[in-house]
Amino acid sequence: MESSSDLPTWDGKILSLTAVSPINIALIKYWGKCDEIEIIPINSSLSITLNCDDLCSTTTVSLGESYEESELILNGKSEGFSDRIKRMLSFLTDSIPAEGAKAWDTVKGEEITIPKEDLLKMKVHVESTNNFPTASGVASSSSGLSCLALCLNKVYGCEMDLGECSRLARLGSGSACRSLFGGFVIWDKGFDLTNFEDIRNITPEQVLEASKNSKAIQVKDESHWDEIALVICVATSEKKKIASTKGMKDSVDTSEFLAYRATNIVPKRLENITKAIEDKDWNTFTEIIIKESNSLHASCLDTYPPIFYMNETTKNLASLTHDINQNFYEPVAAYTVDAGANCFLITKKKHLNYLIDLVSDVAGLDDSKIKFNFKDEIETEHNQIDG
Ligand code: DP6
Repeated sequence: MESSSDLPTWDGKILSLTAVSPINIALIKYWGKCDEIEIIPINSSLSITLNCDDLCSTTTVSLGESYEESELILNGKSEGFSDRIKRMLSFLTDSIPAEGAKAWDTVKGEEITIPKEDLLKMKVHVESTNNFPTASGVASSSSGLSCLALCLNKVYGCEMDLGECSRLARLGSGSACRSLFGGFVIWDKGFDLTNFEDIRNITPEQVLEASKNSKAIQVKDESHWDEIALVICVATSEKKKIASTKGMKDSVDTSEFLAYRATNIVPKRLENITKAIEDKDWNTFTEIIIKESNSLHASCLDTYPPIFYMNETTKNLASLTHDINQNFYEPVAAYTVDAGANCFLITKKKHLNYLIDLVSDVAGLDDSKIKFNFKDEIETEHNQIDG
């Protein structure tokens, strides 16, 4: 899912590359890690990658000896490199080819190779922007860190395939690994342990093995089930109070329900939703999505102290979805909510106008709070997001 030119550019001082990456929305949720450094999830997850220019991250990675410090500029604000970004860079160092990275020399107008030792001497400058609210439960880390992984892979000439690149993205943020592919994507947990205590107490050797295997795999591409559309209801654009990383750690430490969910509920659901996707079985698909979303929030409620991500608008949207579905010959929509209050409605293109009208009237969300992909099916313009 990248839309950048193939080679990084070199102007004599700076080596630079830009990539764009979309967000993905989890239908089977990732909530909990058994290793915080390697970001090994306690269960596999499944998502749908959005095919939408309005919800993506654009990242430019530049390398240069003239930069004083390595720096990340996120939405215009300068930040230092987090430990996770440093970990991504050290993972990458081993993959840089001995001969160095190819680049397009914009001064000479020719392809050149920059030696590995020169690449390693240069400071790294990362500039990333999201065109939607950051850290509000609109999956910003999924697009941002997948985009960074794509850029780093290219700028250092690593030539990793998308599966390997998803391992790199995973080190930045778990959910990011799924944005490397379009359509329906599974993030495989990368190990076979089935007992929660064994998962929680995973050994360093098992972590090492899982880290090699834990990557994203495309189940079906975006053309497989192209009648599906997604409506994003922005119930708030505020930053969530408890970041996903902390929330899921607290849940792993204190929620007995999460332990049961990871080992007894999710594996079966993953199998069933994969089959539902293959068969385009809309009824099963929507039911699993709704149950999964509520299971994530039940785990959050079962965490001690409990975590509340949904607000009144989110709950109204969930009730509204059930009301609409009951009065129709098939489910009109399924809702899914991540670690925030914003609500994603998975629907069919043919139901979009009807659903958006109801969401606007009943849930009281005006156009500026409703965002969707597959705009071409819609008569009215709904292309603003409240930032
Ligand atoms: C609720 O990927 O943001 O969106 O790996 O700690 O960076 P870290 O967490 P993150 O978690 C996202 C969790 C979720 C569900 C999901 O996307 O599967």
